[in-house]
Amino acid sequence: MADSFKIDFQAHGKVESGDLIVFVGENLKPTAAVAKQLGPKAVDLIAKAAAAESFKGKAKSAMSIVVPTGLSVDRLIVIGTGGEKDRANVDFAQLGGLIAGKVNGKLATVVLDLPETEVSPEAAADMALGAQLRRYSFDRYKTKKKDEDDGKGGGRLVFSVADPAAVKKAYKAREAVQQGVILARDLVNEPPNVLGPQEFAARAQALTKLGVEVEILDDKAMKKLGMGALLGVAQGSVRGGRVAIMRWNGGKANDKPIAFVGKGVVFDTGGISIKPGAGMEDMKGDMAGAACVVGLMHALASRKAKANVVGAIGLVENMPDGNAQRPGDIVTTMSGQTIEIINTDAEGRLVLADVLWYVQDRFKPKFMIDLATLTGAIMVALAQEYAGLFSNNDELAERLTAAGKATGERVWRMPLGPEFDKMIESKFADMKNSAGRFGGSSTAASLLQRFVNDVPWAHLDIAGTAMGSPATEINKGWSSGWGVRLLDRLVRDHYEAR
Ligand code: BES
Ligand code: MN
Ligand code: ZN
Repeated sequence: MADSFKIDFQAHGKVESGDLIVFVGENLKPTAAVAKQLGPKAVDLIAKAAAAESFKGKAKSAMSIVVPTGLSVDRLIVIGTGGEKDRANVDFAQLGGLIAGKVNGKLATVVLDLPETEVSPEAAADMALGAQLRRYSFDRYKTKKKDEDDGKGGGRLVFSVADPAAVKKAYKAREAVQQGVILARDLVNEPPNVLGPQEFAARAQALTKLGVEVEILDDKAMKKLGMGALLGVAQGSVRGGRVAIMRWNGGKANDKPIAFVGKGVVFDTGGISIKPGAGMEDMKGDMAGAACVVGLMHALASRKAKANVVGAIGLVENMPDGNAQRPGDIVTTMSGQTIEIINTDAEGRLVLADVLWYVQDRFKPKFMIDLATLTGAIMVALAQEYAGLFSNNDELAERLTAAGKATGERVWRMPLGPEFDKMIESKFADMKNSAGRFGGSSTAASLLQRFVNDVPWAHLDIAGTAMGSPATEINKGWSSGWGVRLLDRLVRDHYEAR
C-alpha cells in the first residue's frame, strides 16, 4: 500500500502548519481545551463559516475552512460529532476513515478531543487504523501511474492526544491488524491467473517469516488422506489443489488451539454446471474466506497474540474440463461419508467438508470457525450488510455477534436444524451437495455441519460482505478484507492469556 500515511502521536500543543482537524458538536463549539488553543477569533470563525456553509455539526459531516484567518495552518477542518445519541456509539475506525478522506496535504494534525466523548487509547488507535484502511487501493497492474498525483497519497497524519505513549502502544497492535486486512484485500483482488492454488499456498508459506509454522498438502498427500470431496472439485483444473495449514503457537504449550478454516476456490466457473458469463470475473474472489484466514494469521502472529491458533485453507480451482466431475458423481469424503454431486457449482461445501474434518480430527480444537463465500442466497437474505452466521454453539455465536458490533463487521444468525438437514438427503449417497433454491444458505450450512462432531463450530457465509459490498469510510475498493478485524477482536476479547 504505497499511499499509506506516516502516523504519529504527540501530546496536545499548538499546531502551526498543514491541515488542522477539530471536532464540534451540534452547538458548533469545540471543547474548552481546543477553544483555548485556537483562540476566540478562530472559534468565532467556525461559527461564521458554519452559517455560510449550512454546517450543523451533525455526525459524519465535515467542513473545511481554507487559509483560516488568524491561524497559521493551511486549512481548518471541522468534523461534526452530532448529538447525544451519536456520541453514545461512535465507530472510531469509520471516523478515522472519514478524516483520511478529507485531508489532502503533506501534514494533517487531528486534535483528539471530542465534545463530551471519551477517546480511549484503543479508540484513538482504531481511528488511525481506519485512516490507513481508507487509503488502500489495489493498482499493482496499472502500468500508467496517474499523471498528476491526486493529492491523496502519502503524507503525515498526526494525532494530538493526552497520552501519546498509551496510544502508540495500542496502535502497534492495530498495525498488525491493518497489515492483515490489507493482505486479505490484496489476495482477493489478485487476478486468478496470478493466484492459483499453488501460488496462494506460497503466500501462506510466507508467514513463516513471522514465526508461523506452515505445512502444505499437495494432491498426493490429500489423496492419501482420502479427501475425495476436495479432490473431486480440483480434478477439473490443470492446476491441482492444495491445503495450507498455518499454526501460530503464542499460547501455553498444552492449550488446545482455536481453529479457522477458509474456502479458497481461486476461481469458480461453476464447473460442468457452468455459471452464466456476466459477472463471472468476480469469482476470482471465491477464495475470500481463505484470504481472511491468511490475513488473520498474519495479524495474530505479528502482534504476537497469546493464543494457539490453527488456520487451514482448502485451495482449488473449479473448472469445466474433460476430467471435471459431473452431476451424478458420488465422492467419498475423508470422514467416510459419501456425497452425490447434484450441481458442480455447489463446490465450496465439498472443499470445506474435507478441511473441517481434517482440522477437527488432527487438532481437536477448542472451536472451529469457517469462512466461505458459500452461497448467493445469503445476499438474498442479508444483502451485503451482514455475513450469515450459523452455529451449533450459542456462546460462540454470541461472542461473534458482539465482536461484529464492536468492529462494524456485523453477523446475523441464521437457522440450522433437522428441517434443513433433511433437505440434503440423497437417493444414492449419504447426502447431496445441493437442495435447490429454498433455504440455500441453511442447506449449505447443514452439509458442513455433517462434518463437525461435538466441537463448538460457527460458519460465516461471507459471499455478500467479502467483495463488491457498499463502500464505507474505511473501504473504497472491491474487496473488503472482511473478517480479519472481527476475528482478531474475538481472539483478543476471549481467547488470549493475560
Ligand atoms: N461461490 C459461489 C457463491 C457466490 C455467489 C459467492 C456470488 C459470491 C458471489 C458458490 O460456489 C455457488 O456457486 N453457490 C451456488 C450454490 C447452488 C449451486 C446450490 C449459488 O449460490 O448459486
Ligand atoms: Mn460455485
Ligand atoms: Zn464458489
